[in-house]
Amino acid sequence: MDHFNYRDGQLYAEDVSVAEIAASVGTPFYVYSTATLVRHFQLFDDALDGMDHCICYAMKAASNQAILKTLGNLGAGMDVVSGGEYRRALSAGIPPEKVVFSGVGKTLEEITFALQNGIRQFNVESDSELEQISSIAASMNKIAPIAIRINPDVDAQTHEKIATGKAENKFGIPISRARDVYSKASQMPGISVVGIDLHIGSQLTDLEPFKEAYQKLADLTQVLRQDGHKIKRLDLGGGLGIPYEKNKSAPPLPEEYGKMVRKVLGHLDCEIEIEPGRLIVGNAGILVSSVLGVKNGDNRNFLILDAAMNDLIRPAMYDAYHDIIPVKQPSSPQAETVYDVVGPVCETGDTFAKKRKMPELSESDLVAFRSAGAYGAVMSSEYNTRPLIPEVMVNKNKFSIIRKRPSYEEIIYRDIIPDWLE
Ligand code: LLP
Repeated sequence: MDHFNYRDGQLYAEDVSVAEIAASVGTPFYVYSTATLVRHFQLFDDALDGMDHCICYAMKAASNQAILKTLGNLGAGMDVVSGGEYRRALSAGIPPEKVVFSGVGKTLEEITFALQNGIRQFNVESDSELEQISSIAASMNKIAPIAIRINPDVDAQTHEKIATGKAENKFGIPISRARDVYSKASQMPGISVVGIDLHIGSQLTDLEPFKEAYQKLADLTQVLRQDGHKIKRLDLGGGLGIPYEKNKSAPPLPEEYGKMVRKVLGHLDCEIEIEPGRLIVGNAGILVSSVLGVKNGDNRNFLILDAAMNDLIRPAMYDAYHDIIPVKQPSSPQAETVYDVVGPVCETGDTFAKKRKMPELSESDLVAFRSAGAYGAVMSSEYNTRPLIPEVMVNKNKFSIIRKRPSYEEIIYRDIIPDWLE
C-alpha cells in the first residue's frame, strides 16, 4: 500500500497534487511520501514485535537525509556500505551505536573513521578485512564489535545481478569456514565478536530461500556457541521484495516474514537485526516525468519522456518493470495505445518499457513511474550532462524539495582545465 492515489481526476502524493509539484519544481523529479515510509517501517517493527530487534535501514536504497531523519525519528538504525553513507547517517542524527557497517571492501580510512566516531558493528566479509580491523582497532586502543558475514550458498531466486548468497558470489565467508574464522577472530586484539551476519539477495519474492539460509544460520549459532563464542546478535540482511507489477502475485508481507523468523530463530534468544531497503522506500517514491513527444516508428509508437536512464537505471540495468501511469487520471473509456517508452539519451538501452499498453498521451502530459523510491535517485548519474533531478518529500499537505536540481554551472565548473592546456 502507498499514498499515491487519484483524487478528482489527478494523481496525489498524500494531500498534494503531483501536477502542482511539477509546476513548482519542473520535471523530471522524484517525490517520496512520508506516510508510506512510516507505514513500511512500522510493518517491520510490528512483524518483529516481542523479539529483541533493530531495524537497520539499508540506506543504499535511498539515502537522502530527509528520508534518513524520518526513519531515525521512528527509532531506525542504518546499514551503511561506505564512508559517505556512514557520514550521512551521522549527519541525519542517527546515533553511531545504531549504525552497522557492511560491504565487501572497506578502506583503512573508512574503518578508522567509524572506530573514531563509534559503530554498532562491522559486518566483516573476509579474513584480510578482519586482520585490518583488528590492527587498526588495536592501534587506536579501541574494541571493534564485529559480525562475520557468512555465505550460506543459497539460491535467492532473484535477478542474477542482485543475488548474493550463492558460493559463486563475491560476498561473505563460506559457511564451511565459519568455525575457523570465528576461532581466529576471538583471539585477535581489538576485536569483539557480537554476532553473525548474512544477506542473500534483493527483491526476493518467496520466503523459502530466506528460510533455508536462516536455518543454516540457526545451526551455525549453536555450533559457534558450543565452541565458546558469545553469539548475541543475528543480522539477517535485507531483501524482501515489493510488488512492481499489478497482475503478478505479490511477495510475502513483513508480517509473514516475521512469523518465519520467529519460528526459525526465535528460540536462540538473540537480538534480531534486519537491513531492509527496498521494502521501506520502494513504494514510497515515484518518478514524475513529462512527455516530450510521440514519434510514430515502423509498427511502433515511441513515447519520448524527459526522464532517461541516467535518472532511473533499473529498466536498462536489470530489465526491471515499473508501472507508468498518467498523472491526469484517464477517463473511462479512454483510448489506449501501445508505446515503447523511452528517454532522450543516445542509447537504445534508454528504454523504460517496450510494447506497454497505456492511455493515449501527448506532448507535455505528465507521467509517474511507480515504485521508484528504491535504487532510483541513488543510482542516477549525470550521463549526457543531464543534471541530477530533484527529490521532493511530501508530508500530508506539505511538500519540500529535499535535493535541488544543480545548475549547469555547478556541473560544468566541477571540471578543472589544467593551466598547461591552452
Ligand atoms: N543489506 C545488504 C548487505 C545489501 O547488500 C542490501 C542490498 C540490502 C541489505 C538491502 O536489500 P533490499 O532490502 O533493498 O533488497 N540496485 C538493485 C538492488 C541492489 C541491492 C544491493 N544490496 C536494484 O535496483 O534492484
